[in-house]
Amino acid sequence: MKPIKVGLLGIGTVGSGTFNVLKRNQEEIMRRAGRRIEIAMVADLNTERAKELTNGECEIVNDANLVVTHPDIDIVVELIGGYGIAKDLVMKAIANGKHVVTANKALLATHGTEIFRAAQDKGVMVAFEAAVAGGVPIIKALREGLTANRIEWIAGIINGTTNFILSEMREKGIDFDVVLKEAQRLGYAEADPTFDIEGIDAAHKATIMSAIAFGVPVQFDKAYVEGITKLQATDIRYAEQLGYRIKLLGIAKRTPNGIELRVHPTLIPAKRLIANVEGAMNAVLVQGDAVGATLYYGKGAGSEPTASAVIADLVDITRLATADPNHRVPHLAFQPDAMTDTPILPMSEVTTSYYLRMLVADQPGVLADITRILADSTISIDAMLQKEPAEGETSTDIIILTHQTQEKYIEAAISKMEGLATVKGKVTKIRLEQLS
Ligand code: NDP
Ligand code: HSE
Repeated sequence: MKPIKVGLLGIGTVGSGTFNVLKRNQEEIMRRAGRRIEIAMVADLNTERAKELTNGECEIVNDANLVVTHPDIDIVVELIGGYGIAKDLVMKAIANGKHVVTANKALLATHGTEIFRAAQDKGVMVAFEAAVAGGVPIIKALREGLTANRIEWIAGIINGTTNFILSEMREKGIDFDVVLKEAQRLGYAEADPTFDIEGIDAAHKATIMSAIAFGVPVQFDKAYVEGITKLQATDIRYAEQLGYRIKLLGIAKRTPNGIELRVHPTLIPAKRLIANVEGAMNAVLVQGDAVGATLYYGKGAGSEPTASAVIADLVDITRLATADPNHRVPHLAFQPDAMTDTPILPMSEVTTSYYLRMLVADQPGVLADITRILADSTISIDAMLQKEPAEGETSTDIIILTHQTQEKYIEAAISKMEGLATVKGKVTKIRLEQLS
């Protein structure tokens, strides 16, 4: 059978990994796919570098439009990133009847509905394994392996950069800025690292997973997003003393009232497997009603780990390219006419547990006032830590772990606590999940 022809848009970190792995493992991949997968064209702004990387083995162009419209190209692999030119090129590729592979979570989380509809109408596939957790085949697991289950919740460490930063800060006491630079050097961080550290990248991925898990449209605009920039080393330390680790979690949870879709720093018990996922590694914990909990772990970023997922998509498409479109796995796991509009809950309606830290005057009655506020709000306390005031100090830290309550109730209780004359400054609040 003649080779399937691929056009690569962008030969940067992931693009070069894709080119190299495909070349290195070509024979093995062909035995699996049933056809040779050939990168016939590469578009990149830096054509000189692209020529060097590809050893003159394919046609190099500067204008990606030439690839998405080329009659010989069967599959377009979009590895440029962002929502501008990348969206135009993906839509153009679909309009020209090309299948698409992309690692671009930002694009799918914000424009996925439009892209999948266009692909559906045109009878082409859009595959995106690399968009969530890089080399970890979580999309395949959610769309196919767990298809018998009613997914109850997903909690994932899905941003390697922030996990790397949190791990280095906790283990080595290295400063935030220094670790971020190292993550950028290693190729984990996005072109704009704000996306990583402010939780936006994780929220893109959580949004995609929520759509596949619950059969709802991709709705990034409804996700609650909080990054790690305000996290203090003090809280990482106190959490550890209480038997917890702090991770940036992407959470998608089905509740009777709607779907929780949120990204924020989260205390999780140190004894959980997922709490021990360190460095740039990713892990996604999925709770299904039949299977129970399953955990998917691996490299969520980097050149070849991400290429591994891109090529898996290329093989899937190669195998199914000639199949009746109705016999393919639906883009978002559920049949397009079976998607629901279950609402995404506002953060005030989310239910979780909390870590609270406050600086208080070291005097009688302070603790009683604080616990009274919590009791009046029917928030029950799970654990408490009171530090000795430092030498010569008259104030001390109190740390409280609560049982589950709704965000709106904890917010109201916090504002009452901050109104006490004995509580100094703001109360630090970090959400806590038992993940059991
Ligand atoms: P890079 O910045 O390393 O690569 C992007 C490439 O696209 C560069 O070579 C760039 O050229 C080229 N490019 C930019 N604009 C155009 C254009 N208009 N036409 C043709 N080429 C263009 O990004 P990554 O490889 O890191 O990321 C690619 C995608 O993969 C992103 O969506 C990212 O979110 C996603 N991803 C990345 C992971 C990673 O570990 N890096 C992991 C998972 C997903 P130039 O350098 O000259 O501007
Ligand atoms: N910047 C992302 C991360 C790359 O750090 O996880 C993988 O999506």
